[in-house]
Amino acid sequence: MSEGAGDWWRRTTIYQVYPRSFQDSDGDGIGDLRGVIDRLPYLADLGIGTVWLSPFFASPQRDFGYDVSDYTAVAPEYGDLATARELIDTAHALGMRVVLDLVLNHTSDEHPWFLESASSRDNPKADWYLWHDGRGRGGRRPPNNWKGPLDLRTAWRWSETRRQWYLASFLGFQPDLNWRNPEVRAAMFAAIRFWLDLGVDGFRLDVFGWIMKDPAFRDNPLRPRLGGGDVIRLRDRVFTEGTPDNVVLAQDLRAVVDEVDGADDRMLVGEVFGGPAKVRSYLGDERRPGLHLVFAFDLLEFRFTARFVRETLERYEREFPAPSLPATVLENHDRSRVMDRVGGDERKARVLAMLLLTMRGVPTLYQGQEIGMRNTYLPLRGALDPFGREVLPWMPEWISRRIPERINRDEVRTPMPWDGSAGAGFTTSAHPWLPLGPESGVRNVAVQEADAGSMLHLVRDLVRLRRDRPELHSGSLRLLPAEGDVVAFAREHEGRALHVVLNMGPREALWPGSGDILRATGPGAEATAAGIRIPACTGVALVE
Ligand code: BGC
Repeated sequence: MSEGAGDWWRRTTIYQVYPRSFQDSDGDGIGDLRGVIDRLPYLADLGIGTVWLSPFFASPQRDFGYDVSDYTAVAPEYGDLATARELIDTAHALGMRVVLDLVLNHTSDEHPWFLESASSRDNPKADWYLWHDGRGRGGRRPPNNWKGPLDLRTAWRWSETRRQWYLASFLGFQPDLNWRNPEVRAAMFAAIRFWLDLGVDGFRLDVFGWIMKDPAFRDNPLRPRLGGGDVIRLRDRVFTEGTPDNVVLAQDLRAVVDEVDGADDRMLVGEVFGGPAKVRSYLGDERRPGLHLVFAFDLLEFRFTARFVRETLERYEREFPAPSLPATVLENHDRSRVMDRVGGDERKARVLAMLLLTMRGVPTLYQGQEIGMRNTYLPLRGALDPFGREVLPWMPEWISRRIPERINRDEVRTPMPWDGSAGAGFTTSAHPWLPLGPESGVRNVAVQEADAGSMLHLVRDLVRLRRDRPELHSGSLRLLPAEGDVVAFAREHEGRALHVVLNMGPREALWPGSGDILRATGPGAEATAAGIRIPACTGVALVE
C-alpha cells in the first residue's frame, strides 16, 4: 500500500452518477450516456476528480441495472458502446477519471449464462450458479437457512426444470454466480479486462463481501441483533457474508487490474460491510494488495452531534491509519438523502458537507447532494424499486413513511433538477421514469448557480479547495481541543496546516483558537481577539 505515481485515487473526490436519473438526451424520460456526456463539463467545473457511474450494462432493469444480462454491452435506453467510449474519453479530456459499477455477486436471471445453467443439470454451465438439492421429501425444503435481505425469506429459489434450488442472496431474479468455478472467474475477469481496455480507471464493487459463500453451505447461526440501517437481523451471516475467501478474491481482482498497461493506475473501491478489522482486511497487505479503498458507511447513519463526529474521526484514525484511507459517504442511491436526515435544515447539511470534504478520506458525493436535494416520498405500493416491492407485504405504509431509512429506494432516485422548466432540464418528456421532486422548481442547479450563497456554491468551493490544498487531500488529521457542541481538527501536510471548526449546536460558540476564515458554511462567523465566533450550525475552515 505504498504511495506511487498511480495514487491519484487518494486525492480524488468521487461523484456518483445514477445514469437513469441524471440527464435524458433523447426525450424518452430516462437518463442516458449522451446526457451524462453533456453534463461532464458541469462535473469538471464542480472540481470532481472521478465519476462513478451506476450500472448501464444490458439489463432487464428489474433492479435498474444491478441485474446484468450482458457485462460487455450497454443497455439500449442508455446508448451503445461507442457512446460509452466517448464518455470515457470526454471525461479524460476534462481531467476526470471514470469508475464503473461492477455487480459480481449475481447476474440477472435473464442472463444467457443463467438460462443455460437452469436448463438442465448437465449443461456446460450447469455449475455456473449456486445450485443445491433441497431437504425433505422431494427436496422441496430449501437446502439451508440462508436468508435474503432483511431476513424476510429464504435466499433459495426453486427451479422446476432442475428440481433443485438456486441461491439468490439479494432478490429472486438475481441468481448468485458460483465464483468457485474457474470458468466463471475467467468470464468475469474477461469482462473486467474489456472495460479496462476501453480506458476505465476502476470499479466500484457491488456487495463485494457477499461473493464467496461457505463451500459447505453451513447454516448461519441464530443471533438476533441490530444490523446496519437500524434493521433487526436474526442471524449472524458468517457463512454468507465477509468470509475470508472474499479477501483472496479482492487480491486476485487487484492482480487483474494491475496487469494492464499503466499498472497501479486503476482503482477498486468496495461496497463492503462489517466491523473495522473485516472491512480493512479487503485492502490486503504489502505482499498481496487487495482493494484500494472500501466505503466506510458510518456517516450514512450520522447523528448530528459533535460527539458522533469526534468519535467517528477518532475511529477512522485508528481503523484506517495512513497510508490507508476510508472512502467516505453521506448519501447514495440506496439510502436517505442528508437533507431529510437533518429534518430539512440546510445549515446542518452544509456543516456535514464541510465535514465530508475536509476530513481524511476519499469523499463521494451522490448526484443532487451538492444542491441539497431531498427525498421524494413515494408510497411503497407504487414502487418501481424491486426492494421496496419485496418488503411491501411486511411493511405497513405508515411505518415505511416514518422510519428514517427509505425502503422504497425510488425516493432517493428521482431525476436531477437542472432548472425550473417543465422537465427540470432533465427531460423533455412529460413522463420521466420517476416523478420530479416537488422542490425541483425552486431547488435546482440553475437557481443555485445564480445565488452565490447557495449550497451548490459552497460545495463547489469545498471540492475545489480539497483538490487544490495538499493539507486537505493528502494531510494527516489531528483532533484539536474543543468543548461542547464544537468539533475542531487540523489537517497538516509538510508544515502547512488548515483548521476546520464545526459548531454543531443550536447556540453561537466561541472557539478559542485563531486564524483567518477561508471558508464558512453560512454567514456571521468572525475571527475576534478572544477566538473564532461561530454561529449555530455553522462550520469554518481556517488558515494561520
Ligand atoms: C446496490 C443496490 C443493489 C444491490 C444488489 C447494492 O448494494 O447498491 O442498489 O440493488 O446491491 O445488486
